[in-house]
Amino acid sequence: MRDATPQTIHLSDYTPFGFDVTSVDLTFDLAPRATRVRSKITFAPRAGAADTRFFLHGENLKLIGASIDGTPVTPQVTPEGLTCDVPDRPFVWEAEVEIDPQGNTALEGLYMSNGMYCTQCEAEGFRKITYYPDRPDVMSVFTVRINGPHPVLLSNGNPVTRTQGSAEWHDPWPKPAYLFALVAGELVNHPGRFTTKSGRDVELNLWVRPGDEGKCAFGMQALKDSMTWDEQVYGREYDLDVFNIVAVDDFNMGAMENKGLNIFNSSAVLASPETSTDTNFERIEAIIAHEYFHNWTGNRITCRDWFQLCLKEGLTVYRDSQFTSDMRSAPVKRIGDVIDLRARQFPEDQGPLAHPVRPESFQEINNFYTATVYEKGAEVIGMLRTLVGPEAYSKALDLYFERHDGQACTIEDWLRVFEDTTGRDLAQFKRWYSQAGTPHVKVTEHWDDAGTYTLTFAQSTPPSAASPDPQPLVIPIAVGLLSPNGDEVRATQVLEVTQARQTFTFEGLASRPVPSLLRGFSAPIVLERDVPPGQTAFLLAHDTDPVTRWEAGRTLARDSLLAMIRDGVRPDADYLDGLRRLVADDTLDPAYRALMLGLPSQSDLAARLSEAGTTPDPDAIYAASEAMRDAQAEHLSDLLAGLYADHQVDGPYAPDAHQAGKRSLAGAALSLLTRTDGGTQAMAQFAAADNMTQQLSALANLIRAGKGKTALDAFETQWHADRLVMDKWFGLQVIEAKPEDAVATAARLTEHPDFNWKNPNRFRSVLGALTQHHAGFHAADGSGYSLLADWLIKLDPVNPQTTARMCSAFQTWRRYDADRQDGIRAELDRILATPELSRDTTEMLSRIRG
Ligand code: ARG
Ligand code: ZN
Repeated sequence: MRDATPQTIHLSDYTPFGFDVTSVDLTFDLAPRATRVRSKITFAPRAGAADTRFFLHGENLKLIGASIDGTPVTPQVTPEGLTCDVPDRPFVWEAEVEIDPQGNTALEGLYMSNGMYCTQCEAEGFRKITYYPDRPDVMSVFTVRINGPHPVLLSNGNPVTRTQGSAEWHDPWPKPAYLFALVAGELVNHPGRFTTKSGRDVELNLWVRPGDEGKCAFGMQALKDSMTWDEQVYGREYDLDVFNIVAVDDFNMGAMENKGLNIFNSSAVLASPETSTDTNFERIEAIIAHEYFHNWTGNRITCRDWFQLCLKEGLTVYRDSQFTSDMRSAPVKRIGDVIDLRARQFPEDQGPLAHPVRPESFQEINNFYTATVYEKGAEVIGMLRTLVGPEAYSKALDLYFERHDGQACTIEDWLRVFEDTTGRDLAQFKRWYSQAGTPHVKVTEHWDDAGTYTLTFAQSTPPSAASPDPQPLVIPIAVGLLSPNGDEVRATQVLEVTQARQTFTFEGLASRPVPSLLRGFSAPIVLERDVPPGQTAFLLAHDTDPVTRWEAGRTLARDSLLAMIRDGVRPDADYLDGLRRLVADDTLDPAYRALMLGLPSQSDLAARLSEAGTTPDPDAIYAASEAMRDAQAEHLSDLLAGLYADHQVDGPYAPDAHQAGKRSLAGAALSLLTRTDGGTQAMAQFAAADNMTQQLSALANLIRAGKGKTALDAFETQWHADRLVMDKWFGLQVIEAKPEDAVATAARLTEHPDFNWKNPNRFRSVLGALTQHHAGFHAADGSGYSLLADWLIKLDPVNPQTTARMCSAFQTWRRYDADRQDGIRAELDRILATPELSRDTTEMLSRIRG
C-alpha cells in the first residue's frame, strides 16, 4: 500500500546519513514463503552529522524482533521503514524479519525463479530484505550466512565455509546495499580460471539451470576477454578470489553487477550457435563486459545518490562500447550505437519524458534507468575524451581510480579529475549533465575565391519541461574537408562549438571543399544543413570517414522516403545508384555494407515528419518503407544472388565479427531476394540452417512473404522447450506481421499456453514487440493502444517495473493526428484511473500525459 500522493525526491535535498556502518552480518534461513533474515549491524554516530535521525528503510517486511546492544527495543514502523531511539555512541543493532520470496513477483529484493532464490537490489531492493540505510553512500563490509538445503548457496565476496545445508561468504570490500546478492538453488557450473596481471588466481563460475550447460562457453570466454581488456586498457585488475555469474530466467533488466556475484537475465548470458543469433552473441559479450567493468566503475567507486546514476552507467556503457570496438569492428559498432541512440534516446529527449543525464528529481528511481542516463551518459564521456584527447583521458581516469577508490561520488568529483589533469574549465561542459533535450546545430558555409572557406554553426536546444531555458553547450564537431575529386584536403579536426553561433575558417584551399561533418558522430546532436544538390551522394561515394559515409546514405534514404510519403514521388535514383556501388564494392566490410542497406526506422520517419510540421500517417510511412525495399530489390536484382552466395560461410559457425558480417550481408540480400523470388531461397535456407542466425532470418522472410505458417509450426515443434528461442518465436510473429494483422497476432499470442506473462522476457516478446511495430501499434482504430493498456493494467500489480518501462511506448503520442491522440489519451487515463496503480507506472504516465 502506498501514499496517495507520491513523494518527489530532489537532488538539492541530499544530506548524508548520520551514522557509519562498520560491519554487516546477515543470516538467511531460506523458506519459499517465510524466509527469516537476521541482521547484526554495527552503527557509529558520525561526529557533526546534520541529520542524526536513525531511520532504516524497510518495505514488505514482517519485523519479528529488534535489539540494541542485546536489549530488545520497539521501533516505530511505517510502510517505508522504521525509526528508533539509539545511543549516542557506537552500538550493535540486531533485527529479525520474515519475508516471502515466493510471493515476490515484482522481482525486486529476494525472489524465486523456477525454484531458485535470487536477488535484485539495485536501486532500492535491499529494503525488501531487511531494515537498512538503503542508500548508495552507506558502504560497509558484509558477512553472509545462508542456511538452506540447496546444493548451491552464493553471496558476494569470497567463500568462508561450506557445509551441508549452509554456506558463509565474506566480502572484504565495503559496498552499498544495492550490490548485495544471494543465490540458492540447484544449479550447474561451467567453471573457468583467470590469472590477473599481478598473479591473483581467480576462480570463475557460470551457474545455470541444469540443461543450459551447453550455452555457457561463449559467456565464459567473454568474461575472460573483459578481464584482460580492463587490465590492458584501464589498468584495472579483479580483486577477489572468485567471480560468479548466475543466469536467471525471471529478471526485469539485462543484468546486475553485484560484487563478485553478477546476476544475469538468462537472455543476456546463455548462448549457443543453434539457439542464439549473431546479434545475441554480440549483445551478450557486451553485457558481460559491462557488468564486469562495473567492478571498478560502480562498485569500487560508486554513486553518492541515485541522481548520480550516470556516474557509473554512462562510464560503464562507454567502456563496454570501447571494448566491443576493440573486439569487433569500430565503425560498425559506432554506427550501431548511433542507430540505437536515435531509436531510443532521441525520442526520450524530445518528448515528455525528457530529463537531464543527471536528473534533479524523481518519484521512482527505477524509472530513470533510461537511454538518456545510459547512452547519452556514455556519449557525454565520449565527447569529453574527444575534447581532452586520449592521453589526458587516460590520466584523468587513473586519477579518478586513485583518488576515489572506496568512495561514493558525484559528477562534480568526476569532472574535477579532468579539470585537475588538464587545467581545463569544464563549467560549460557540465551543462551536458544538467540540461535535457537534443541540441540542433544548423550549419551554413561560405566560400570566397581567395581560398577561404568558413563554416558557421548555430546551436539551439528545444526547451522542455525539464529544461525550459536551455543554454549553449560545448559541442565537439569533428570535421574533414574533401576536394571535388574526393581527396581529403583537410584531415579530421575537432571544432569546439561553445557559442550559440560560431564561425570557423579554413584558409589556403585550392577549390571549394565538400565538408564531412560530425565525423564519428562526435556529438549526440541533430545536424541540419541545406546541402547543395548532389553533395550527399558525393559523400556517400567518397567520404573517408566510415560513419559520415554511412550517414550520407542514411540521409539520402531518409529524404527520399520523406518525399515519397509527402509527395507520392518515386524512390530517389541517386540514392539507389550510390547504394548499388557501395553494396557491390568488395573492398568494404560486409557488415558495413549490410548496414548501408538499412533504412531509417518508421518511427524515426514519423519524428522527422512531425518536426517538419506534417502529421505522420503510420500506414503511409509503412507503405513508403515497403516501396523503398521493393525499389532496392529491383535496383540490385542482378547483384543479389551473387551477394547471397558469396557471403555464405564455409566451415563451422563462429560468432566472431568476420563471420557475423558475412551472414548479415547475406541476410540483407536474402530479405531483398525474397521480395522477388516468392520465398524460394528463404525456404531453402530455413531447411538447411544449422544456426539460429540463419534459421531466424529465413523465418522472418517467410513470414513477411506471407508463407510463414509451416516454418513457424516446425520451429515451434523444434524449440518449444527452449525459453529463449521461444521468445524469438513469439516476437517475430508480431514484428513481421502486416500492419493490419499485428494487433490481432499479438492478441492471439497472449492466448498461447506458453505465454507466461509474469515472465518479463515473454511479456516483452509479445507486448514489447507490438510497441516496436510502428504501423501496427498505431493502428487507426486504437486497438494497439487498448491491447497494450489492458496488459499494462494486468501486469502493474504483479510487476510495476516492467509495466512502467513499457509505458514509454506512449511517449511519442503528441506526434500523431487528433484521433490517435484521443485514443492514446483515453488509454493513459484509463490506466491512471486503476486503483492502487504502482508509483512506478503512475509517475511514468503522469509525465507522459503532461
Ligand atoms: N546496474 C545494472 C546495469 O546497468 C542495471 C540494474 C538496474 N535494475 C533496476 N531494477 N533498476 O548493469
Ligand atoms: Zn550498468
